[in-house]
Amino acid sequence: MKRLEAVRCHPIFQREYGQLWAAEADRQFCRHSMEHLLDVARILYILGLEDGVDLSKEVLYAAALLHDVGRQEQSTAGTPHEVAGARLAGEILRDCGFSETETAAIQQAILSHRKTGAEDWLCRSLYRADKASRACYACPAAADCNWLPEKKNLQIAY
Ligand SMILES: [Fe+2]
Ligand SMILES: [Fe+2]
Repeated sequence: MKRLEAVRCHPIFQREYGQLWAAEADRQFCRHSMEHLLDVARILYILGLEDGVDLSKEVLYAAALLHDVGRQEQSTAGTPHEVAGARLAGEILRDCGFSETETAAIQQAILSHRKTGAEDWLCRSLYRADKASRACYACPAAADCNWLPEKKNLQIAY
């Protein structure tokens, strides 16, 4: 997965991830650390296996790794993070050897990762993997979290 490592090492990803990691150091709610990004990647890959989807592991992992890359811009400039993320992901993916088709598919999935019910498998499943990654049933900040009850994972899903 050479292209995925190129994404992780890309200066834009490094900058955005580093700033976000520092900004979230004292956050009591879910963070958007590498642990979250890789949880999403692994769940997305499992969903792909279960659904028999013909997408490369690299595309699935890249979508997950980049889905929250716009979080820092949301905090500092107010741009919705799916919009900022899709734009930043485009710049990164093209530099890392992803085709225009792969880049467009990943950008679309990032753009819709906060909405349920998309028709496209990658869009729908990135949303699902993102939500499934959160262990709300074991969260110490549950009482203060503003996620709607129907969005929370109140038991282990498998
Ligand atoms: Fe997000
Ligand atoms: Fe996320």
